[in-house]
Amino acid sequence: MNGLDDVIAADTVLSDVDGQAGTLIIRGRSLDELAAGSTYEAVVALLWDGLFAEAPQALAVPALLGRARSEAFERLCEADLQGLQQDPVEALRVLLAHIDDGERLETALRLVGAAAVFTAALLRVRQGLKPIEPDTTASHSADLLRMIQGTPPTAEQVAALDRYLVTVSDHGLNASTFAARVVASTRAGLTSAVIAALSALKGPLHGGAPGPVLDYLDSIDEPETASAWLEEKLSRGERLMGFGHRIYRVRDPRADSVKSALQTLIRAGQVDAQRLRLAEAVEAAALKLLAAKKPDRPLQTNVEFYTALLLEALGFPRDAFTCVFAISRTCGWIAHAREQILGGRLIRPRSRYVGPRPQRALTMEAMRVTSAG
Ligand code: ACO
Repeated sequence: MNGLDDVIAADTVLSDVDGQAGTLIIRGRSLDELAAGSTYEAVVALLWDGLFAEAPQALAVPALLGRARSEAFERLCEADLQGLQQDPVEALRVLLAHIDDGERLETALRLVGAAAVFTAALLRVRQGLKPIEPDTTASHSADLLRMIQGTPPTAEQVAALDRYLVTVSDHGLNASTFAARVVASTRAGLTSAVIAALSALKGPLHGGAPGPVLDYLDSIDEPETASAWLEEKLSRGERLMGFGHRIYRVRDPRADSVKSALQTLIRAGQVDAQRLRLAEAVEAAALKLLAAKKPDRPLQTNVEFYTALLLEALGFPRDAFTCVFAISRTCGWIAHAREQILGGRLIRPRSRYVGPRPQRALTMEAMRVTSAG
């Protein structure tokens, strides 16, 4: 009840998560179809279709996003760079707050462009390097990698990141998306909605899980010791990061989509396979332990487990994984915020009061004392 399980809080045309079948549909397309054949820009166009007065044409989105990245770069100034020394998610929140709080397409594009540019800039600045100017002709994925690495990424890296960004672009009414819809329903603006969503995303039970997954792999080191190490964690009452989901009772379909992007990098000889082998052993041990510990509650691998490996393979530092998730999901948050705005109603549920009530006799007595005094 206090997790709002099974409560339907919105009608949406954006995405549908079937937790029993383990499927995800984004605007009528299956995840498999989208992840195999779409760019991130195409998914932005798909998700935003019909939600703005000035609908972005699919073909125009790459150029629009290129321009938005360029604008975001121009916004980076000395004062902003001070904030870049913090935790990346917190720094990103600070920087995004500089974007106007409009509700129109121009603000939406600015937010998507800025999420990538600001993340890249903050990662450069904390290494003592200068931020790299965006290339307005590059794809969002290619430009993000180039702005971080300082060198052009390989075609396989771009494809792998694109698959990731498409895979996590939208996912029903998860906690961060709900936060975005609540804020948008007050008509506070898209920037406020995105910052609220980002704040929800950073929690370890939501988009903050992949960093700790790598901490596991570092601690486990040898496949043979995985089971004992994980069992020790469970015996302390801790949760295993990268496993379990509120909706899925089977494997999260995004886990294999992300894993396949990693396997492509391995096949291309750009990433060593050893880390994946260790992760597979850890995953198998975790699933076995969770099945034994919670026989009535199917706890399967979620998207965050292989996200950790893919983003590490692409060179992102682990404390920035949540920012990369946000770079993708910003388009989904905005789509939901716009859908909420068009629906036109303030979200305002009720709570049931279970605390003490004022006692009338006591209150009268207190009033007599007060008036006597
Ligand atoms: N490891 C160990 N036990 C778990 C795990 C886990 N990963 N997930 C759930 N459980 C247990 C709970 O302790 C609980 O046990 P109890 O009934 O004895 O108290 C039972 O399973 C049910 O758990 P709930 O908290 O009711 O499940 P909920 O639907 O609220 O949780 C969540 C979903 C938060 C994702 C949970 O599975 C979890 O904490 N996973 C680890 C964090 C993680 O990977 N988050 C990323 C999710 S994907 C995303 O947000 C992008």
